[in-house]
Amino acid sequence: MTRTSGLAMRAGMILAFATLLVAQALAAAPGKAGIASADPRATAAGYEVLQAGGNAFDAAVAVSAALGVVEPQSSGMGGGSFFLLYIAAEDRYVFVDAREIAPAAATRDMYLDEDGNANTRASLNGPLAAGIPGHPAGLAHVTDRYGKLSLAQNLEPAIRLAENGYTPSVRTLLGLRMRRRTAEAWPAFGDVFYPGDEMLEESDLVRQPDLATTLRRFAADGVDGFYRGETARLLVEGTRAAGGIWTLADLEQYKVVEREPVRATYRDMRVISAPPPSSGGIAIANMLNILAGYDIARLDGATRKHVLVEAMRRAYRDRALYLGDPDFVSVPGDRLMHPHYAAGQRASIRLDKATASVSLPGIWPAGAEARQTTHFSVLDADGNRVAVTQTINGWFGAGFMPPGTGVILNNEMDDFAIAPGVPNGFDLLGGFANAVAPGKRPLSSMSPTFLESDRGIAILGTPGGSRIITMVLRSSLAWYEGASAADMVALKRFHHQFYPDRVNYEPGAFTDEEIPGLTERGHQLRESRRAFGNMNVVTWDFDGNVVEAASDPRGLGEGRVY
Ligand code: GLY
Repeated sequence: MTRTSGLAMRAGMILAFATLLVAQALAAAPGKAGIASADPRATAAGYEVLQAGGNAFDAAVAVSAALGVVEPQSSGMGGGSFFLLYIAAEDRYVFVDAREIAPAAATRDMYLDEDGNANTRASLNGPLAAGIPGHPAGLAHVTDRYGKLSLAQNLEPAIRLAENGYTPSVRTLLGLRMRRRTAEAWPAFGDVFYPGDEMLEESDLVRQPDLATTLRRFAADGVDGFYRGETARLLVEGTRAAGGIWTLADLEQYKVVEREPVRATYRDMRVISAPPPSSGGIAIANMLNILAGYDIARLDGATRKHVLVEAMRRAYRDRALYLGDPDFVSVPGDRLMHPHYAAGQRASIRLDKATASVSLPGIWPAGAEARQTTHFSVLDADGNRVAVTQTINGWFGAGFMPPGTGVILNNEMDDFAIAPGVPNGFDLLGGFANAVAPGKRPLSSMSPTFLESDRGIAILGTPGGSRIITMVLRSSLAWYEGASAADMVALKRFHHQFYPDRVNYEPGAFTDEEIPGLTERGHQLRESRRAFGNMNVVTWDFDGNVVEAASDPRGLGEGRVY
């Protein structure tokens, strides 16, 4: 090698290294922020906090708390949440598990009558349906450990909305129509949401002074301002007076848990998602491993969708059999996410024929559908990222509000398997791994997720009960194939969950050619009258440093870039 070519090579290497550094620096800081949430008032709350000097974590707390006010049917102080965080300065991922827990007096058979029959109403309505809320502890934890502002600053937009009032969205009004009978049984809830025993209208202003007081106590005293003192006393007294089993000790002892997120790869895309007690990350990793064995982009439409359904079927079977709270049961996550395990599952998939779910060993033995939850995504100018899915489970949770609190309690106890083989409100089955036990977290499908590749970053998630996981899977594959944030949220959806053995789909999810291609293979197709999910996505493409924020066209939300 001549001296000149050696120097040229060295200069080339230095240039390549410098380019890499620039790319890494760019990857760490987009210089602009994006927020996508299910309600423009919540998106605005996040922006307010960013403008006040907060980071993505502060903005997430502000969005989250505001959603708890203006989307009372979906999430709030009486529920639980999962926060997936990326701390750019430390290049570190954290999963904050603020899921509800079963109260200490809960028992495995608490929803069975003396003849052993399941009483699903008790796990869905009223105080017995409610787990001890984790969401407030999650908000305090994320602010204290990762934010730059105080909890009081982050809660201020939510407090204003509760105090000054907000107009109910059409989704809130829909939920109220569905929950009217429940409200008759629990007057404190009815007093706020059916004033004078009337249905609210879109032009009405909903003021929640009790909730504002609860939020102010929380803002002033942090965790102690909710889990101890006056709020705790009102929660426990109200719950017990209505037949519940909560104690002050249940609230005092509640703790969030920081967990390692699930990590998976699909070709050159990295997926960071929710670990147990969510079933989402493991199921997504497993389905991607199964799908990686096919060149799915080159398959014709019907075959591609057939293979996706078969992957969904197998992952949801394992969800029912193996997944539960990892602090209580041993979850074989490494095995379920191993490529060899997926290879075995793939070997059982025929390209010409659907596998009947009954032919796979599983948990057997269906129900009404209930799905309320909400998801939002945040990216800040420094590259910090947050994906949050939060819930009170069904429409208006348990439909129950302990008097004086303004807090609507969740009905997350229904996410336990109340008896082996008894499907829950999402038709999901479960067994021992997800049986009720004191202090245990019910298995969730909430799947806040990050995607990363040389292309850039995506922050995504959605509500939708059992369908969350397959929605996140399909939008992840779409992003991998080049979809924008707007494409990801608009994607037509279909879903299979092992049991019931059928494919639910939105109109337009299958073409006229694909429908016979699937039915001839033996799939039962059922077109859904209702739209699936309400996805919120922020993406950042390194090429051109483009940030996009998109909210699902099925919902009323807003994605903005600042
Ligand atoms: N409550 C819905 C879920 O956690 O999956």
